[in-house]
Amino acid sequence: MKTGGKPNILLGVSGGIAAYKACELVRRLRDAGCEVRVVMTRAATAFVTPLTFQALSGQPVRMDLLDAEAESGMDHIALARWADRVVIAPASANLMARLAAGMADDLLTTLCLATEAPLLLAPAMNRVMWAHPATRANTERLLTRGVRMVGPESGSQACGEEGAGRMAEPASILHALLGPGSGSLSGRRVLITAGPTHEPIDPVRFVGNRSSGRMGVALATAARDAGAEVCLVHGPLAVEPPAGVEAVPVETAEAMRVAVLERLDDRDLFIAAAAVADYRPREVAGQKLKKDAPTLTLELIRNPDILAEVASRRPRPFVVGFAAETTDLRGNALAKLARKGLDLIAANDVSAGQGIGRPTNALSVFWQGGERLFPEQPKADLARALIDLITERMERSGADPSTT
Ligand code: CTP
Repeated sequence: MKTGGKPNILLGVSGGIAAYKACELVRRLRDAGCEVRVVMTRAATAFVTPLTFQALSGQPVRMDLLDAEAESGMDHIALARWADRVVIAPASANLMARLAAGMADDLLTTLCLATEAPLLLAPAMNRVMWAHPATRANTERLLTRGVRMVGPESGSQACGEEGAGRMAEPASILHALLGPGSGSLSGRRVLITAGPTHEPIDPVRFVGNRSSGRMGVALATAARDAGAEVCLVHGPLAVEPPAGVEAVPVETAEAMRVAVLERLDDRDLFIAAAAVADYRPREVAGQKLKKDAPTLTLELIRNPDILAEVASRRPRPFVVGFAAETTDLRGNALAKLARKGLDLIAANDVSAGQGIGRPTNALSVFWQGGERLFPEQPKADLARALIDLITERMERSGADPSTT
């Protein structure tokens, strides 16, 4: 193993169309000053030739465990020791299943068992395969074992479908592997709220809002990828909650409050990304309301403010709130930061059609004595950047975040 300097990276490539993106990853890792050795599965060679990776890495590419010639050079145990970090990109459903089962039936899986280096996976597969309970169970098993994940991301897939399963971009993988956020929340316990709340009017109707929950889900994914143990308390979502995260579905603000308070003990970080309804109908009709009258008046009463309640607790975690503003973003966000007693607030301008219900967002983030602006970008990128900033602020805030 290398002491100091840039880490030695062992890149595993398994079979999937996203293997072509691994070529770009090798180039970027070498640009970053890392030595890279590539190990491919047999299936990966159907997508990219070993020669391509050899040319890009400047090193011979390995595929077989029982290759007498290769083993006479750097044998597989030496290769496992050489690696400071192992990254598998793309990690196919099959490879993840083999890793989860602890198999060592080819060179790559053998190396994963034989190395003490941290392992990062960039899953890539069809969205149905990613959502399959078998893959989810394998993902959870790997995460519990300390394996880290980056992505997958949502979007259009090579198979022509739309959904979660697309491999993270090389820049994101590089960031997860070498960036300031890599492992920065290891051992930290994070609680996140996401999505809208639905406040019932009668058994079939509710008062709600346009939140999709994408930002909260992206934050849960980014916190998980940074090594945290994450619990996501969420209202009705337009997207799946990430694997490897404890997901607690709720409907109403009151149910969200109860679920949050029950899980608050020993948390290092609380992020309120939910678009909680500020008001709920005073009366909930037991039967479906009939349209007999020409007008209908609903009386609404205030919901509890979960964020303010968490921030007022002692001891309490590092507390991050969101603000959706249509006027004077900075002034309103700073006022909210002070009024609710937060450590950090992320504000977005909803008057310009940003944020709510959309796949991209821009954020202005404020804390006492500082601010940072994040331009419009996909929510997954924004979430990673925000988690990095939060980690930085948690460290700078002096107190060990685990004891505040
Ligand atoms: N929030 C919460 N519980 C509520 C309402 C809001 O936890 N009942 C959290 C949201 O998750 C978000 C932050 O509070 O992190 C900001 O909420 P927002 O509704 O924008 O601000 P308010 O303080 O309610 O002020 P206003 O609506 O007047 O702008």
